Amino acid sequence: MLRSIASLFFYARFLNRFSTRGYRRAAADWPTVEPDFSGQTWLVTGATGGIGRYTALAANSYGARVIALGRNPHALDELKTEASAPRRLLPVEVDLSCMAAVGKLAGQRAIKSQPVDVLVNNVGVLLNAHELTDEGFERSFATNMLGPFVLTESLRQAGRFGDDALVINVSSGGMYGTPLVTEAMNCTEPDQFDGVAAYARHKRAMVVLTRWWNEQWQGSPTVQVMHPGWVDTAGVRTSLPLFRRTLKPLLRNAEQGADTILWLAQARPAPPPEGGIWLDRSCQPEHEFAFTRRSPVSPEQLVEYLRLAASGS
Ligand SMILES: NC(=O)c1ccc[n+]([C@@H]2O[C@H](COP(=O)([O-])OP(=O)(O)OC[C@H]3O[C@@H](n4cnc5c(N)ncnc54)[C@H](OP(=O)(O)O)[C@@H]3O)[C@@H](O)[C@H]2O)c1
Repeated sequence: MLRSIASLFFYARFLNRFSTRGYRRAAADWPTVEPDFSGQTWLVTGATGGIGRYTALAANSYGARVIALGRNPHALDELKTEASAPRRLLPVEVDLSCMAAVGKLAGQRAIKSQPVDVLVNNVGVLLNAHELTDEGFERSFATNMLGPFVLTESLRQAGRFGDDALVINVSSGGMYGTPLVTEAMNCTEPDQFDGVAAYARHKRAMVVLTRWWNEQWQGSPTVQVMHPGWVDTAGVRTSLPLFRRTLKPLLRNAEQGADTILWLAQARPAPPPEGGIWLDRSCQPEHEFAFTRRSPVSPEQLVEYLRLAASGS
């Protein structure tokens, strides 16, 4: 009961910003600028559906060579068929929740052959049922958090990023409901699993990791974190059916959800030194509630936790 009330309060607080209303209000002031990504190589994770699919097709249509990562071979074929420049769309089949597979991506021919200019860490899942990967990780942790960590670090270590490269992490407004905590981020016990809480923790950690990477890497590459708003995608239909049914007329479409990703890649604003998360082309605060500022875990401890998990310890 208490939890339902808290959820209602949470959704009501963000309705005007995260729904299509927020997008329309913000977009009224935007100049019409056609992005130009010609000559760039993009790597988009979770490119077979929703926001990732829209991003991959749009970047391709604006001139980029796009390496599209997904696990469904038919959806990857379809993506290529729909691309405006199919020769510049390279599908790579990979399960992004499998660290052995993700760790090998930096050595793939399509990725090795040209420097990566834009990496979009888009893949993300909110799972209501507990599931372990073959490597023993809770699947949403592996997909949302450990995979992007391993992919980004391994690309950087292998020198795959171009000069002036940009990493765009896709987080969620759900992160506003939690401080940074590593406890239960990789929940291997089915009876203790709470998919919504786990998702929020991963998305909060993505925001903290973005700031930490920027401090460490000093622009090589630059890292940004964004939030797409509430978007009507297959992911939302499966994971949050009640939310979707209730708010359907107010949900954004994939184009609206992907807008800030494309804008970040075109406009190249500096990452805010004090942290923040981009929504509708504007930087929003990292915290909405005082209690999320008090974290039992430091960014260094988060990174140490992820390194240990990635090394299998
Ligand atoms: N939609 C929203 O309202 C919303 C709000 C806030 C944040 N976000 C974030 O935005 C991002 C995109 O969300 P979305 O709603 O577009 O998701 P979506 O509709 O579920 O699409 C995600 C795509 O990722 C693929 N994928 C999932 N797990 C994979 C894996 N292990 N390996 C390879 N591909 C995998 C899915 O392919 P399959 O078909 O094979 O599963 C699907 O094509 C996520 O990070 C999400 O957390 C979304």
